[in-house]
Amino acid sequence: MTDRELISMAVSAMENSYSPYSRFPVGAAIECSDGTVFTGCNIENAALGSTVCAERVALFTAVAAGRRSFRRIAITSNGSSYCYPCGACRQVLVEFAPDIEVLCARADGRYVSYRLNSLLPLAFTSASTD
Ligand code: THU
Repeated sequence: MTDRELISMAVSAMENSYSPYSRFPVGAAIECSDGTVFTGCNIENAALGSTVCAERVALFTAVAAGRRSFRRIAITSNGSSYCYPCGACRQVLVEFAPDIEVLCARADGRYVSYRLNSLLPLAFTSASTD
C-alpha cells in the first residue's frame, strides 16, 4: 500500500468523526506488519477529558483484533496544518511501535513523514523500569 492509499483510508475514517465540541474531525489509519489496516476517528464527549483521539481508536481497534506489530500510521484532519499526533497518542503508540512511521497529512493531501522515535525522544517505556 502506498502512503497516499493509507492517507486516503484515514480521510474516509474521518467522515465518522464525532467532534461536535471542537469541530475538528480527525481520521487515522494504522498499517500492521501483516499488511492489514485498521482505522479510527476522534470521538468526543461532553465531559471533554473523556474524548479519545483518532490514533488511539485505530491502534486500540487493531490491538483488540489481535495485532501487536505495526509499520505505519496516517493521520489527517480537514485543516490547513499537518495533523501531528498529540503527546498522549505518541506515548500510547510507543508502547507497541517505537519505530513506527508517522504520516501527518493536511486537507490538501500534502503530508510529512517522521519516525515516532524522533517525535518522542527518550520515551518512557517498559525498559525504563528495569
Ligand atoms: N485529536 C485527535 O484525534 N488526534 C490528535 O492527535 C490531535 C487531536 C482530536 C481530539 C479532539 O477531538 C480534537 O482533535 C481537537 O483537539
